[in-house]
Amino acid sequence: MNFDKTESVSLSTSDINPDPEFFPKHVAIIMDGNGRWAKKRLLNRIKGHKKGTEVVRSIVKTCREIKIPILTLYAFSTENWKRPKTEVTALMTLLKSFLLTEQEEMMDNNIRLNAIGQIERLPDEVQDVLRSTIELTKSNKGLLLNLALSYGGRDEIVRAVRQIAEKVKNGIIDPDASKNQITEDLISDHLYTRAMPDPDLLIRTSGEMRISNFLLWQIAYSEIFITDTLWPDFDRKEFISILKNYQQRDRRFGKV
Ligand code: IPE
Ligand code: IPE
Ligand code: MG
Repeated sequence: MNFDKTESVSLSTSDINPDPEFFPKHVAIIMDGNGRWAKKRLLNRIKGHKKGTEVVRSIVKTCREIKIPILTLYAFSTENWKRPKTEVTALMTLLKSFLLTEQEEMMDNNIRLNAIGQIERLPDEVQDVLRSTIELTKSNKGLLLNLALSYGGRDEIVRAVRQIAEKVKNGIIDPDASKNQITEDLISDHLYTRAMPDPDLLIRTSGEMRISNFLLWQIAYSEIFITDTLWPDFDRKEFISILKNYQQRDRRFGKV
């Protein structure tokens, strides 16, 4: 399913079909390959993460221009805590400075920030900027930029099960199948992504054919696109080309 770069010549945002039937309401991206990008250049992995942050800016801008309602970016997984401390610290520092420098940009461009994941595990100073940026941008009506931070799909489901079990214990929910209160919608409503539509399109950069614990419940019917391009080399042109490819797919949802 590799992307053919020759197809991407002269693509612009106007190539995207605005018809709501074909237009993705939610795009999710597994931003992978920063380390390999740096290694290829004999640079420290952190340099790859830095370059990756610039790509985030460019893709956010493109989503805003095309008017994609929701962009979810996998920035740090629950498993990423197992990386060397120096790398984790550098990623947290980068995240903090990204948020600080982007606050003005978000306000100028009507972007609303949201975070999904175990926010309480992030260093205090990162939590502080994160919460203040979410608060600052909460009334913005444009792009919803959803950052997955210390996020794990299984952890999210465990958390939902705990909340639902608590409601059953307190008599708020009847678990009897005949009552039909524990439904797919109820589970969706207890995930971090409640009130968001499921991703229409899931993109993963740098060629790994796996999900790595991302949005396990929500991607049941997402269209998947995996490109070999490393995240720091990913750009607007390739993104638009993937969106065009998505628009040509036949989403059957099990029907004929
Ligand atoms: C993605 O790039 C960024 C994070 C997971 C935080 P990687 O750091 O995983 O880069 P590779 O996969 O080692 O190239
Ligand atoms: C997935 O990338 C997580 C993020 C992009 C934040 P990883 O590099 O952590 O995933 P694996 O280890 O290749 O599965
Ligand atoms: Mg990786």
